[in-house]
This record gives sequence, C-alpha cells and structure tokens, in this order.
Amino acid sequence: MIAKLIIDKKREGRALGSAEIRGFIEGFTAGEIPDYQMSALAMAICCRGMTERETADLTDAMMRSGRCLDWTLDVPTADKHSTGGVGDKLSLIVQPLAAACGVAVPSLTGRGLGLTGGTADKLETIPGYNASLSLDDFQRVVADVGVSMTVQTGEITPADKKLYALRDVTGTVASIPLIVGSILSKKLAEGASTLVFDVKWGLGAFMKTKEDACELARALVSGAKAAGRKAAALVTDMNTPLGRAVGNANEVAEALDILANPGPVADRADVALSIELSSLMVSLAKEIPFDDARALCREKLLDGSALEKFKAMVAAHGGDLDKFAKLLEQPKFKFKIQAMRSGVVSAIDAEKVARVAFKLGAGREKASDTIDPLAGVTLDVQLGDKVSIGSPLATLEKSGCPDGLESAAADLFRAFTISPSGAKIETLVCERVM
Ligand code: URA
Repeated sequence: MIAKLIIDKKREGRALGSAEIRGFIEGFTAGEIPDYQMSALAMAICCRGMTERETADLTDAMMRSGRCLDWTLDVPTADKHSTGGVGDKLSLIVQPLAAACGVAVPSLTGRGLGLTGGTADKLETIPGYNASLSLDDFQRVVADVGVSMTVQTGEITPADKKLYALRDVTGTVASIPLIVGSILSKKLAEGASTLVFDVKWGLGAFMKTKEDACELARALVSGAKAAGRKAAALVTDMNTPLGRAVGNANEVAEALDILANPGPVADRADVALSIELSSLMVSLAKEIPFDDARALCREKLLDGSALEKFKAMVAAHGGDLDKFAKLLEQPKFKFKIQAMRSGVVSAIDAEKVARVAFKLGAGREKASDTIDPLAGVTLDVQLGDKVSIGSPLATLEKSGCPDGLESAAADLFRAFTISPSGAKIETLVCERVM
C-alpha cells in the first residue's frame, strides 16, 4: 500500500476503498506511516469529506486498532456519550440511573482539555476514587455494581489517541467523518450494545450551530446502527450552562444533591434531560416502550435507587464520600458578583462562564496540567430569574492563591444579560435522532 497514492486519491475527492482505509490506519498505528502522512490524509478528509461507507470503514479500522470489550452479562449494556458541555455533570446522574433500572453501564470517559470538562476529573475530586482502572477491573466493577466510569486506557483505540493528538495541532478537528471515527470507534470498542449520544450545540459546545450538531447526531446514530448497535441521539442546547455548578468538585456535589433530593428538582431542565437520556438507554437496551422506561427512570431517581448505585460505584472505585464532604468544607477563596440593574436574567453565556472556570484552575491547557478540584463557578441564578440591584448572580471559587480573582469576576459579569422584561427560554432538546 502506497500511503501517498491514498492521500492523492482523497485530495482529488475520490472515495477510498475499505482495504485502503484499513491499511492506512493499521500502518499509522504501527508507526509505519509517519505522522506527516496521517496529517495530510486527515486534512484531505477534512476538505473532501467521506461517504457513509468510508466513515464506517474508518470507524471500524480505528476500533480494531486496540482491544475491543465483549460483555457476557445477564442484563443488557448501554452507555451515554456527551460531546461535551459547560456544567455537564449529567453522566453522574444518567449512568447510575440507567444502572438502577437494570441496565449495565460500562462507561469509558475522558479527562478535560481546554474548556471542555471531563467526567473523570470530576469523579477524581472524590478522595480515593480511582478513575484509571485496568480494563479487567473495569469489567469486574460493571459486573458487580452495574456501572463503572473510568478513563479510557491506551489499550482501547490507540489509533484515535495518536490521530487526535495530530488533529489537535493540524487544524483537522472540525470534520464530521473524523469526529465520528474518533467518538464511535471508542464507544464501539467499549462494547455496549446500546449507545445514546447527547450532541450539544451552541456557545459552550464544540458544534456551534444546531445544523452541524444535527448532522453529527445523524452520523453517529447511523454509524452505530451500521455497526450493529442500538442507538439514538438528542441534540441539545448548550448556550447556557447546565445546572448551577461549573467546575469539578462543585459539579459532583450538585449531582449528589440531585440524586439525594430529586423531588424538588425533577422537572428542572437539566434533571429532565438526564431522565430523558437514561430513559432512551433503558428503552433501547431493554426493548421496552419509551414511556415505560421514563416512568421507571423517574421512579428509580425519586426512590433513591440511583443514589445507591452512584455510592456503590464510588465505593467500588475506592472513593470516600465522607472525605469528599470534608473537602467541600475546606476553606477556599470566594468572590460573589452581583446584579447592577433590575430585570430578568435573559442569557448566561456558557462559553464565557467556562473560560472563567478555566482561568480559575478548573481546566487544563495541556494533558500534563493539574487542576484545582475546588475551582469553579456556582451560579446563583438561572435563566428567567428576576433580579434587582445587588442580587447575587454567581460565586467564583478557588483554593490556593486568589491571583486573578477580580479580573475573572469582571469576565464572569459579562456572561450575564439582564433584560428589562422576560427571557425567551428554549427547551433543551431540539432534535431527537432515532
Ligand atoms: N471528541 C472526540 O472524542 N473526538 C473528536 O474528534 C471530537 C470530540
């Protein structure tokens, strides 16, 4: 196989054959095809696109570059994947909730990079929580508890690990076939028979338009189905942060609070979305009507079963929730911002909030950076809330040195729009792809 001819072919806009795609990915994974040729092919794919069949071949080749898990449990398996949002702690609710409904949830998750938070980082703020389980331990926890959330190891889709690092520095992230290959190869290798995608669009998402998010959602669902899985996606609004907490430990605390006291918040938009996502997992995995799955999910959230699953998962990963409660009480620097006019909160810019949380230390610029578990932003208001002069809008939090807190506060202030009259509040789910 001559790598250059394959690059030429794609550059000219022609479809690659299955064997060409497989050979290229195998050669790249083995180190026989150098990074510069892989980068050139990624750029050609970015500019010329791929057919559905080529995307399926790319996904399959990347999936086969590492270990693929196989589940032989007596319950069906399902996982939810979010394309990443601000304050997106939904996995911490959705996955244990689906497990409480009798679906096994093997969830290989990621660490945050840039403005996107990572579920693994959030869970690791629980003292003792091991988010780097071996695949054997991951399989054992899923079998014993029904749910495990751990970082994807290098054994799964090494081709994606190498390729993503190249795409990141060669301007080739924004390509639907490459994104589908990347996300889906990991999810397929994880082995769950049902996959539900939460594809986010808007200021705080990496898909900025609803149309692009819908295209990605359709490609993920058709790719997953072509690979023999049951799949669905929701396209959801990510212009406003989800819930109140944006950070790491504060997001876990908020999720725990929802799991422990779901009654008063069960109809709040972010909680309703969590129930919706779990219901899709349960309905597809157990092959039961969606309304029955939703009724079951509501019941298992409200009766505390989802909380019990979350606690059991944390314990199985070595985490200690008593120590976590103590961590939250640790002194930290706080700075509150207040409204300077009366009116209604009509926008909270998710990207601006994420930038502030990042600046405070909640995120990492490069993979080797460490994060401040207590850094973040907690919103005191939600869209549509009435405020008057002096009403609290949000609190910035940070452990350690408070350098930069005031400039971050000024940035955060600019995330809020307060209008004289009401806010137009859109529903979070704008499209369902089944
Ligand atoms: N997330 C991934 O895992 N891969 C992409 O290509 C984009 C987002």
